[in-house]
Amino acid sequence: MNEREGRMMFRAFGSAVLLAFVVAIPSSAQQTAPSRHLDVVFVPTPSEVVDAMLKLAKVTSNDVVYDLGSGDGRIPIAAAKTYGAHAVGIDIDPERIREATANARAAAVADRVTFRNEDLFTADISPATVVTLYLSPSVNARLTPKLMKELKPGTRVVSHAFDLGSWKPQQRLTVNDRPIFLWTLAAPSGTRP
Ligand SMILES: C[S@@+](CC[C@H](N)C(=O)[O-])C[C@H]1O[C@@H](n2cnc3c(N)ncnc32)[C@H](O)[C@@H]1O
Repeated sequence: MNEREGRMMFRAFGSAVLLAFVVAIPSSAQQTAPSRHLDVVFVPTPSEVVDAMLKLAKVTSNDVVYDLGSGDGRIPIAAAKTYGAHAVGIDIDPERIREATANARAAAVADRVTFRNEDLFTADISPATVVTLYLSPSVNARLTPKLMKELKPGTRVVSHAFDLGSWKPQQRLTVNDRPIFLWTLAAPSGTRP
């Protein structure tokens, strides 16, 4: 490469670095805000209700627990810490994802818990064996067809406060005045769960 070619290379390379830098600024700035409006604002489940939900679902170390709208991560973190489960938290708010990821590190369960900044309506939830919810009646109603379609037979769904409309729960408990509901996905007719 002669001197002229060297200068041309430097100019081209330098422009590419500058362009990458300019593109990177807006995309990292966007990560402080959710990609769209929240369907439900963050309100944490009290810890005694978290414990009761995981107990009701009979979570074990063989489970993969998905919390849809995971907030500060307390449900996935408790599933990993108390029961040795693998757990995934999905939240549309990047601030909640950062907070939950830091909380998982502080609780020494970061090797078993993952937080994903995604919309719960489009996230892949098919690996779940347990799904936990603390959303709202209308969000639960919109979510029910996805649960039915994507979850494997035998998957347990536990919801804090809100039921799933006409989908009759197999159990309902009250913990400190808060209702929690359990369902187990049925096998398609003619097969075993
Ligand atoms: C009521 S909080 C529940 C937090 C946590 N699951 C708990 O029980 O402590 C609901 C969470 O859902 C999140 N959220 C709202 N709309 C969402 C959506 N479309 N996809 C994913 N997360 C969403 C909010 O950011 C919030 O953290």
